[in-house]
Amino acid sequence: MPSDDFVAKYGPWALVAGGSDGLGAAWTEAFAKRGLNVAIVGRRKELVEAKAKEIENRHGVSTLSIVLDLSESSAPNELVERVTGIDLGLVVYNAALSPGGKFEKVEGSTIRSAISTNVATPTLLIHQLIPKLLSRKNAGVILVSSLAGYAGSSSLSTYGATKAYLRMLGEALWEENRGSGLDILVTSPGAVTTPGLESRSDKKIPGQLGPTEIVEMSLAHLGKGPTFVPGGLNQFAAMLLGRILPRKAATSLMRKSSSGISS
Ligand SMILES: NC(=O)c1ccc[n+]([C@@H]2O[C@H](COP(=O)([O-])OP(=O)(O)OC[C@H]3O[C@@H](n4cnc5c(N)ncnc54)[C@H](OP(=O)(O)O)[C@@H]3O)[C@@H](O)[C@H]2O)c1
Repeated sequence: MPSDDFVAKYGPWALVAGGSDGLGAAWTEAFAKRGLNVAIVGRRKELVEAKAKEIENRHGVSTLSIVLDLSESSAPNELVERVTGIDLGLVVYNAALSPGGKFEKVEGSTIRSAISTNVATPTLLIHQLIPKLLSRKNAGVILVSSLAGYAGSSSLSTYGATKAYLRMLGEALWEENRGSGLDILVTSPGAVTTPGLESRSDKKIPGQLGPTEIVEMSLAHLGKGPTFVPGGLNQFAAMLLGRILPRKAATSLMRKSSSGISS
């Protein structure tokens, strides 16, 4: 979609929850490049502010820096309050916590944080934002899921389960809002070259893509259907994991493909 049309449909402001680093920084960049102002959320103040300054200077857009921990139970309300003054047309929920390791070895508090960050906060945030987005008749919500949500992911059990939840939520919201002008999209990347992944894996994973590729492919799909998997190899993997393989084979494939990723 040409930038002017993109701004007319989704502008003037986008919110990227987890928009300061990794894949989130690529969403932020993609929106600013098209001329949208961006509200950026992250925990590390210096990263949020640096990303905001960078896109202001490079693209001449306005920014709102929001330093907030999305794992806190107060986060949805606090975030809604922080964005009340801006006309939001596009919301991306990108932040996630991915605890690795055998399920019973992971601290309960870490599991709770993952469920809050990956499930409770996006659900309650979108729940509060949807009425205003719907009233615009032109808006979008993008939930960032993962291929890890297509089959039980041993060593990433809680993470994979939260990502499966997001896909089901997004599909349902897409159906509920079909024809309303509110585009809902769940994008489920395979491996993405981000600082987060690079710190946990030293090998290149089949189908691995860069953050900008993921974002651009996903944006090209916005408004065209409820779910998207970026990259041909990953689409094939999603079909195998989700539809073709017996569940025993799917969980085994998932274990093999995530071996080598540490917590
Ligand atoms: N990397 C991959 O291979 C891969 C594969 C499939 C799907 N994904 C999905 O893509 C998304 C981004 O992944 P990533 O690897 O780029 O993640 P990341 O580097 O860990 O974090 C991305 C952004 O989210 C922010 N963030 C994380 N936790 C937060 C919290 N509790 N509160 C506020 N901000 C928070 C980070 O800033 P702060 O740390 O400063 O808060 C950063 O700006 C996730 O939803 C992930 O599940 C990633």
